[in-house]
Amino acid sequence: MKPYVFISRKLPDEAIAILKEKYDVHMWEQEDAAVPYEVFLEETKKADALLTMLSEPVNEDVLKAGEKLKIVANMAVGYDNIDVKAASRLGVTVTNTPNVLNDSTADLTFALVLAAARRMVEASEFVKEGNWKSWSPFLLAGQDVHHKTIGIVGMGNIGKTVAKRATGFEMEILYHNRSRKHDAEQELGAKYASFKELLERSDFVVCMTPLTEETRNLFNRNAFKKMKQQAVFVNASRGPVVNEHDLYEALVEGEIAAAGLDVFAEEPIGSDHPLLGLKNVVAMPHIGSASMETRFAMMKLCVENIDLVLSGNAPKTPVNKK
Ligand code: GLV
Ligand code: GLV
Repeated sequence: MKPYVFISRKLPDEAIAILKEKYDVHMWEQEDAAVPYEVFLEETKKADALLTMLSEPVNEDVLKAGEKLKIVANMAVGYDNIDVKAASRLGVTVTNTPNVLNDSTADLTFALVLAAARRMVEASEFVKEGNWKSWSPFLLAGQDVHHKTIGIVGMGNIGKTVAKRATGFEMEILYHNRSRKHDAEQELGAKYASFKELLERSDFVVCMTPLTEETRNLFNRNAFKKMKQQAVFVNASRGPVVNEHDLYEALVEGEIAAAGLDVFAEEPIGSDHPLLGLKNVVAMPHIGSASMETRFAMMKLCVENIDLVLSGNAPKTPVNKK
C-alpha cells in the first residue's frame, strides 16, 4: 500500500504532481474554506503525512490520532498552530517554509508601513467615493517614511529583509530580538535596542516576532503608551502578539497615529471588527507571503519535505528534532 498523504486545502495539481505519482494523495477539495476539524481528524487517522495550512489546529489530539503519522509539513514559516512538543514526543517530524517567503513577506510589510504612513487606503477610498472636489494643501497629508526611525521587533530572516528595504529609504534601523544579530548590525547598520528604547525612539514599530508564550500579548497598553504619538504600528507576524483591545484604545485616544495589520487575534475577522471602523487602520487578510511565485515555492518545499521523510530521508526545513 502506498503511503497516505492528506492535504488540508485544495492545491493545484501541478504543485503536488510528485506526491500524486508516488503516494495515495487525498485533499480537502475547497480552496477558500478550511477543512472541518472532524474531517481533519478522520483523515489524520489514515495519514502517513499531512500538508497543513496555518488554519489547521494540529494539537495533541490530532497528533495522537495519527498513529502512522510521520510528518506534518506546514505551509507557513510560523508553526504556532502546531503542538511541536507533542509532535516531537510522538516522533512526528514538523517542517515549515522558511526563507522562500522572506522577500514577499517583507514587501507586504513595507507596503503596510507606506500605506499607513501615507494614508493610501484611505486616500483610495476617498477618490472612489467621489469625494475629491479640489486639490488642497493638506489633503490626506500623512507622514514621511524616508529618514525616519524604524524599530523591528523580531529580527529573524523576515525582519532582516524588512530592514534591508528600510536602508533604501535611508531610515535609522533599530531592532529588538532575543539574541543579537551581528550580521544585520554589520551589513545593514541595524542597532540593537531594548524593547522599551525601541518603542520610545521608533517612528515605525514593526512586529515580526513569532507567536510564543513569551510574545503573546507583548504589544499591550503599556507598550503603546511608550510609543511616540505619531508612531505607526505594523503587525505582519501573528495576531495574538498584540492585545487588540489595547491597540484600539491607543488609536482612539491618539496615543499612536496609525496601524497596518496583516494579522488578527482570531482569523478571519468580519467587517464588524472594531479596528476596521478606524480610518487610521490599514487591514489585510493575512497575505504576507501571498504572491503567486512565493505560494508555489512554499507548496514545493512542503512537497519536498514530505517526499524526503516518506522515503526515509531527513527533511530540508525541520522545525523539531525528534
Ligand atoms: C504566514 O503567516 C506564515 O507564517 O508563513
Ligand atoms: C521571522 O521573522 C522568521 O524569519 O522566522
